[in-house]
Amino acid sequence: MLKIIVMSDVHILPEGVVKHGLDTSERFAIAIDDANTFHDDADLCIYAGDIADEGDAASYARFEALRAGNPIPSFVMMGNHDNRPTYLETASDPMVDDNGFVQGIADIKGYRVIMLDSSEPGRVDGVLCNDRLAWLAARLAEAKDRDLPVILVLHHPANRLHMPVDTYGLTDADKLASVLLESGARIAQIVAGHCHIPTAGSWHGIPVATISGNQHRVGLHLRNMTRQQPCYEGAAQFAVLLATTSGVTVHFHNYVDRNVQLPDAMFPWKRVQKFGPED
Ligand SMILES: [Fe+2]
Ligand SMILES: [Fe+2]
Repeated sequence: MLKIIVMSDVHILPEGVVKHGLDTSERFAIAIDDANTFHDDADLCIYAGDIADEGDAASYARFEALRAGNPIPSFVMMGNHDNRPTYLETASDPMVDDNGFVQGIADIKGYRVIMLDSSEPGRVDGVLCNDRLAWLAARLAEAKDRDLPVILVLHHPANRLHMPVDTYGLTDADKLASVLLESGARIAQIVAGHCHIPTAGSWHGIPVATISGNQHRVGLHLRNMTRQQPCYEGAAQFAVLLATTSGVTVHFHNYVDRNVQLPDAMFPWKRVQKFGPED
């Protein structure tokens, strides 16, 4: 059985900095301890972006120091909070493709895992330029040739959550759908972070899931909900993917399981938010 841990939105801060009342390094250390205690049999751990909250070198160094305690082979991806050049200067073993994007593949136990870089400097939303789409198409063609089902991990969710996060979601989702569907490869699962809320569903017939990650969790906020979107101190959560020949199961594991609501005043931008167009 293939076992993959996906940790997202680690949001490491510089030493001594606490944001929203949360020490993300302390929480990340709990996640690493959990991995040591229960998941040292995992084949892979993927850090799915938003590694350093401010994209600074000191936070990347802090992340690397904590990550060194993780017994699972791992890859690091970029999110909108990250600074790709700063990360690449700081990282000891970055995953990087021929065009300088922080993305790559891992073929394990009959699956192809594709880690796709959807981050773009200076932008909160997700971007997939022609270089990245061409890279993805080539990796999917290889997977099809080798009859490997694909697990795709990227920072920005491809599907709509029908929440305000859609306005800074994956801008190029339609292009991604075209590349995936035209490839003829079997896409077994997509996993993303960014939205800080666990969800599961399907998108163009492909199973999708998101996790809440290591920072605050956002509450459900749909079009008819007029109150400020609530934010909670937990759960801090990673995904455990178990994949066999018959399919993929996604577990949502809460390694910090407190769910205290944080004061609305901490998140004033959640008071007035816009929704994207309905599809
Ligand atoms: Fe995030
Ligand atoms: Fe993000």
